[in-house]
Order: sequence, then C-alpha cells, then structure tokens
Amino acid sequence: MDLQLGGKTALITGSSSGIGVAIAQMLAAEGVAVVINGRNAERCEKVAAGIREAGGKAGVAVGDIGTDEGAKAVADAAIAAFGGIDILVNNAGGSAETHNHSWFSATTQDWIDTYQRNVIGSVRLIHALVEPMKAKGWGRIINIGTGAGITPTSGQADYGPAKAAMINFSLGLSKAISGSGVTSNVVSPGMIRTEGLVDFLTAFAQKRGWGDDITKAEEYVMKGCGQTVNRVGEVRDIAFAVTTLASPMSDFINGTNIHVDGGISPSIN
Ligand SMILES: NC(=O)c1ccc[n+]([C@@H]2O[C@H](COP(=O)([O-])OP(=O)(O)OC[C@H]3O[C@@H](n4cnc5c(N)ncnc54)[C@H](OP(=O)(O)O)[C@@H]3O)[C@@H](O)[C@H]2O)c1
Repeated sequence: MDLQLGGKTALITGSSSGIGVAIAQMLAAEGVAVVINGRNAERCEKVAAGIREAGGKAGVAVGDIGTDEGAKAVADAAIAAFGGIDILVNNAGGSAETHNHSWFSATTQDWIDTYQRNVIGSVRLIHALVEPMKAKGWGRIINIGTGAGITPTSGQADYGPAKAAMINFSLGLSKAISGSGVTSNVVSPGMIRTEGLVDFLTAFAQKRGWGDDITKAEEYVMKGCGQTVNRVGEVRDIAFAVTTLASPMSDFINGTNIHVDGGISPSIN
C-alpha cells in the first residue's frame, strides 16, 4: 500500500537512539526526508548516515529541546535541512536525568526537569512549526506519550503526570487548529525493548536473584501489568503507528491517544 508519504519532510526529536531511530528509519523508508535530533552530534550523524546508506534522505538538527534557545536552533536547522517540516514527531522525553521517580525523594527540580523535557520541549517545537504547517494547509503533530499518562502508577510520580499533560494538550491543540489540515495525535507506548528497558529489567532480575537473563523479568512484569499480548513491544511497533498517523490517509484521525502497548491498558481512554 502506498502511504502517500513520498516527498514529505519530518523532524523526529530524540531520534539518535531508541524509539526515535525506528520512527525515522520507517518514515525514511516510506520516502520521507527525515531530520534526526538529539544533543549528541556524533550519534545524530550516525543515524542519519545509516538512513542515507539505506537509500533514504536524512539531515540532522542537533540541540537541546529543553531550552527556548536550543529548541529554536533545532527548529531552524530542521526547516533549513529540506526547506520546511510537514511532520513533527515529539519523541524526545523520558524522566529527568536523575531518574528519581519516587514520591518521597524526587525533588521539585526533578519534576520541573521531567516536565521541561516532555511537555515544554514539545510545546516549543509546536510553536515553531505549526504556523507554517497551517499556512501550507497540511501537517502532522505526533506526540509520544506513555501508558502511565492515563494509568497512574505509584512508582512514576513525575513522569506519568508530564505525559498526561501531553495527552491533554494534544487534544486541545487539535481543536485549536481545527480545519487547518494539520492533525495532532498521541501514540502511547507500553513496554518497548530499548536500551533503557533492558537496563531496567536487568536490574529487576538481579535484585530478585534471577541473574542476567531478563526473560523471567519480562514475563513477571508483563503478567504483573496485565499485558494481554505475550511479547515485549519492539521499537518497530511504535514506528508503525507513527508512520500510519503521518500518512495523508490518516486525515480523519485527530485528537486521539493511540495505545501501542500489547493490551496493557486497563481502560479504553
Ligand atoms: N522505551 C519505552 O519502553 C517507552 C515506553 C513508553 C514511552 N516511551 C517514550 O518514548 C520516547 C522515546 O523513548 P526511548 O526509550 O526511545 O528513549 P531513549 O532511548 O532514552 O532516547 C531518548 C532520545 O531523546 C534524546 N534526548 C533526550 N533529551 C533530549 C533533549 N533535551 N533535547 C534533545 N534530545 C533529547 C536522546 O539523545 P541525547 O541524549 O543525545 O540528547 C535520545 O535520542 C520518550 O518520550 C519516552 O518517554 C518509551
């Protein structure tokens, strides 16, 4: 099936590792000229070179979306790479560098950092890129959330609320740009096999005396969370949802939060 993405351009924030790489690679395979972002230039260049070697088009926009100046530099470089951005994937995120999620020890600065990285970083790029999309009469804003955004957990005090804000603003934005040809949606991943998840499961397994084999930890966590598909998610699962939403054929999907989580969600919202 032709997803009609050929000739479009995309900025994928946080695409120098993990889920973002897979999104960039899949969009590029569909003919999208992609712009790779992260704070480390070398890692961005490596991902872009890999896409070009595979026959795709890729540029880089190195910078920190956690500050106004950084995000502006990223937006400017992204626009300059291919003459404009049609598709913005707000993927850079996660918790504050301290990874301190505990209600009892996470500091107010941890909360601020997590909010900055996920919410304000995305808002900055939306501010920079949505007006040109509206003027063109076509665009896609795709925000990467998480299951914890609608299912609060005891252990992710700061992270879940930040992602909840992204889900909230994404629907609000879809209404604010009503009728413009630009859509705004969220893709909420569940447990996805990235370096971060493997580290988490390894620590989990070691703590329980299960050694370095994380299979048991995977099964334990999937069962404990009520996941209904019997495998851990892969980065391609998220890339597929994003690529589908990015397609012009998805123009009737707006303001939604799509769960790509192996059925882990206990609710339908
Ligand atoms: N992995 C999962 O299971 C999972 C589950 C649910 C939701 N998610 C969400 O999916 C998204 C991607 O997660 P991931 O696991 O793939 O993350 P990851 O492997 O840690 O990658 C994060 C990416 O974001 C970049 N980044 C971080 N802070 C940045 C900043 N301030 N400015 C610019 N780039 C920045 C990183 O590069 P540099 O460090 O070089 O800047 C890297 O490219 C996140 O929003 C996360 O919350 C992940």
